[in-house]
Amino acid sequence: MHKIFHGDSLEILKTIESESVQLIFADPPYNLSGNDLKTVGSKTGGNWSKVNEEWDIMSEDEFLDFNNKWIDLSKKL
Ligand SMILES: C[S@@+](CC[C@H](N)C(=O)[O-])C[C@H]1O[C@@H](n2cnc3c(N)ncnc32)[C@H](O)[C@@H]1O
Repeated sequence: MHKIFHGDSLEILKTIESESVQLIFADPPYNLSGNDLKTVGSKTGGNWSKVNEEWDIMSEDEFLDFNNKWIDLSKKL
């Protein structure tokens, strides 16, 4: 009944049967890396508590395209 998929969500979402999903909980990239955003004075992570990863660095167009794609694919599930 329960399955775990590991891979590119844009590919995996295409393989899931339509209208077979009851709940989608997403924690996708937020495109916050690489732009020198700092949480100065943070009590939990110092001045640099956010992620800074390759998968989280996109242009505005890439970020919109990525989100539009996974949301569109999710709608049919
Ligand atoms: C904001 S983090 C969420 C982390 C997760 N909640 C956790 O606790 O490990 C976004 C995650 O999405 C992954 N990711 C980025 N692009 C992806 C894609 N196209 N398909 C699937 N996962 C992707 C990243 O590797 C990263 O682990």
